[in-house]
Amino acid sequence: MEAAIDTSPTASPRELFATRRVAPSILSADFSKLGAQIADVMAAGARLIHVDVMDGHFVPPITIGPLVAGSIADQVHQAGGALDVHLMIERPADQVAEFARAGADCITFHFEADAHAHRTLGAIREAGCLAGLALNPGTPAESVTELTGSADVVLCMSVNPGWGGQAFIASSPDKVSRLRRLAPGARIEVDGGVDAETVGSVAQVGASLFVAGSAVFGDPQPAQAYRRIAAAAGAE
Ligand code: DX5
Ligand code: ZN
Repeated sequence: MEAAIDTSPTASPRELFATRRVAPSILSADFSKLGAQIADVMAAGARLIHVDVMDGHFVPPITIGPLVAGSIADQVHQAGGALDVHLMIERPADQVAEFARAGADCITFHFEADAHAHRTLGAIREAGCLAGLALNPGTPAESVTELTGSADVVLCMSVNPGWGGQAFIASSPDKVSRLRRLAPGARIEVDGGVDAETVGSVAQVGASLFVAGSAVFGDPQPAQAYRRIAAAAGAE
């Protein structure tokens, strides 16, 4: 049975992204019961649902697109949540309008995938969404210095993008602290290998959004796993 959806008055997507949050990634969910899995973690307090879009080019796997994002958007919004869309695709600017139409609240794309990242950040904001800029582990924090003022979210990959279930890269907290200094007006998000053991190391140095896929949906009790990670992060 699906868990009850919390319909109490809630914050706007912009306000949600301004709080400290664990964002369960549906990449590790059971897609045969996706709605029930989302309801379960939202009943446990999750408000940001992370959607990993991969195109088979920027990263080898192909995952999901605007059709799936659009099919869960109403459920997430009605439960007082927001959709956090992470594009791991080439030519991300071409897909902004489609994901905004599908109900994305924040659209994040990769610095490495776009020669015109400044323009794309502007296009995402124009489409009415928060604009996120993601960095691969091999991309120096300093390479986005000129862009941080145009980003609402800076996403520090703590694994190489493409797959759930990889080990957290140990140097990630150092990079997060450099990004924290370089992007004073943006929220810092961390994605990859985040669990109850690793989340504290990046929460301490200024990250406030924590994506967790396998640590939530790979657990037999996703709601309890979510609560453990949120508690370790000091998240809401
Ligand atoms: C990886 C994706 C992540 C993924 C994280 O490329 O961007 O969001 O779901 O999975 P875990 O939490 O299992 O490392
Ligand atoms: Zn992601």
